Amino acid sequence: MKAYRAGLLRFDDEGRAVHDSDGLLVVGPDATGAQVVRAAGSYAALAGNFPGVAIEHLPGRLIAPGFIDLHVHFPQTDVIGSPAEGLLPWLENYTFPHEAQFAQDLHAQEMAEVFLDELQRHGVTTALTFCSSHPASVDALMGAAERRGLRLIAGKVLQDRHSPDGVRDDTEQSLIDTEKLIRSWHGRGRLGYAITPRFAPSCSEAQLRGAGELAARYPDVWIQSHVAENRDEILWARELFPASRSYLSVYQDFGLMRPRAIYAHCIHFDDEDRALMRDTGAAAAVCPTSNLFLGSGFFDYEGADRVGFRYGLASDVGGGTSFSPFHTMLAAYYVGREGQTKPGLSLTPGQLWWQHTAGAAQALGLDGVVGNLQPGCEADFLVLDPQATPLLARRTGHARTLDELLFAMIVLGDDRVVERVHIAAGT
Ligand code: GUN
Ligand code: ZN
Repeated sequence: MKAYRAGLLRFDDEGRAVHDSDGLLVVGPDATGAQVVRAAGSYAALAGNFPGVAIEHLPGRLIAPGFIDLHVHFPQTDVIGSPAEGLLPWLENYTFPHEAQFAQDLHAQEMAEVFLDELQRHGVTTALTFCSSHPASVDALMGAAERRGLRLIAGKVLQDRHSPDGVRDDTEQSLIDTEKLIRSWHGRGRLGYAITPRFAPSCSEAQLRGAGELAARYPDVWIQSHVAENRDEILWARELFPASRSYLSVYQDFGLMRPRAIYAHCIHFDDEDRALMRDTGAAAAVCPTSNLFLGSGFFDYEGADRVGFRYGLASDVGGGTSFSPFHTMLAAYYVGREGQTKPGLSLTPGQLWWQHTAGAAQALGLDGVVGNLQPGCEADFLVLDPQATPLLARRTGHARTLDELLFAMIVLGDDRVVERVHIAAGT
């Protein structure tokens, strides 16, 4: 067992931020040997309960749960910052050519290390990740994550049509590969598999049907895709699937909506779509830097809360412009604020932080496992330095409330704030 004394941030069951300015986090192995949180709270209340346990004192630091990125593309690490008219030309001109390179195993293996280095440097300890359509890209990423002890969820992209040579897969083989990858990786250590139809326009009906059948056969695997991101994409999806009520309904019609199904973007929704998300237990990955960069639109937080479906934050690298959860939370604040095209609201820093930690975990069905620092949670945590840069030190130096402290880090912070990343598996 070991204990850490510093400021401590965690979340209660209602998603409210709980802060101990002089806190104690005690971690130790559970019955299976995994590192979990044994106690979390104020130093004064807890210290006497753990005689003999070494306490590392981290003055001026804030201990916080590792961030969860609810939607990111590992083969798009080098695509960041590639401008385009919009989603579809961006896919054609940058994304597909880059992803085609992942046919080479060595490239996939090298990029897996680069990608995981970036996640960890930015304090992201769990991610729901798209790989490329090449099954070996999953082996590369999962193998690297396993060596680092990360809780990571990933899947091979399914895209058997409207995709160029080099990334297009074969319907039947893609489903055989997916099942094989589920059996290899899902539930192995901390790893999980996600069935990953790229988006409805890139998948034939047969491929979507097969994906739905696999989802039924493996009820605890995740599902991930994209939906309602961009107007051209939506028109295309509506043309290809005229029998479905809406773009989102296509996924429902093929058995791909349920708890543990995470749909990126969810921007251009009506209330029936929102109700379908709520009623099926699916969740949205909100990708604000991507939506601003590709000009896709603004996620409607008011609509999501009014109807009541789950969501969390995501980078969507490489449509997204940063791996940094601080940048993503700030962009989410801007998106929430936007009140000219939809009802705007002012998200609190505690809400933003929750969306990238405990809220994202809830969206994944992993609440109580990751994204929080309550007793029993896996011990993935960060040591943050609220004085990491001169300007940040000035602003946090006169923060009077938790909201002010968190907002200063959201607005001014980046990877320089992340001093240490502790992974439960012990690296
Ligand atoms: N829709 C289909 N594929 C993609 C992708 O790679 N990124 C984004 N942002 N949207 C998509
Ligand atoms: Zn995406």
